[in-house]
Amino acid sequence: MNKIICKNYDEMSNIAADMVISQVRQKPDSVLGLATGSTPIGMYKKLIQMYKAGQADFSQVKTFNLDEYYKIDKDNPQSYNYYMHENFFKHVNINPQNIHIPNGSAENAEEECSNYDKMIEQSGGIDLQVLGIGVNGHIGFNEPATELNSKTHLTRLSIDTIRANARFFDSIDQVPTQAITVGMATILKAKKIILLISGKNKAEIMGKILNGKITTNIPASLLQLHPDTTIIVDEEAAYKLVS
Ligand code: PGA
Repeated sequence: MNKIICKNYDEMSNIAADMVISQVRQKPDSVLGLATGSTPIGMYKKLIQMYKAGQADFSQVKTFNLDEYYKIDKDNPQSYNYYMHENFFKHVNINPQNIHIPNGSAENAEEECSNYDKMIEQSGGIDLQVLGIGVNGHIGFNEPATELNSKTHLTRLSIDTIRANARFFDSIDQVPTQAITVGMATILKAKKIILLISGKNKAEIMGKILNGKITTNIPASLLQLHPDTTIIVDEEAAYKLVS
């Protein structure tokens, strides 16, 4: 895995945005795999700035988000659908028909998951996948476990994830306990992956995914198998590596 250690969150965000833009310039109809959470907010801000400055064109880009809570309505401000529109899509010239996010209110979750995989395949697969990481090493909502699912699936959130995400809700009881997430095969099939890691609370997991061991108990460690993954990490998250 390539590793870029950045001074701070802003530098990490700018480098990630530059990589997304260079992908889209090379291939204007790129298929982007997108992530939510606190970490990529700065990257989305920078992408919006670049779009407004005439440096980026998303008109032909297709996007597939990694995950969505289940069950949640897409208009619920806690949904990832809402997050993506507020933090990115509504500010740029993406074609709404090219936006894909798992439907968190689908009656038939199984059907929703298999359709999502089909749509990704039909689009030609993900060209560039943007990832964040959970403190427990999850990517998307692929939670640590003895077995991981290769395909898009409905999953139960781990208690670590529920605790970590409670900060976005009024109370921990409001955090959904399930989610739809793309599986590990979809992530690992992406042609290029960038993993953004920021903050002191990610330093421990950062060390674990770089220690050469691969385990389903740390789903992000499987990225070591991918031929073109770049970790973009700020100094706070990398302090155990640099000190
Ligand atoms: P965060 O979440 O960016 O809000 O830390 C990342 C994740 O849980 O995947």
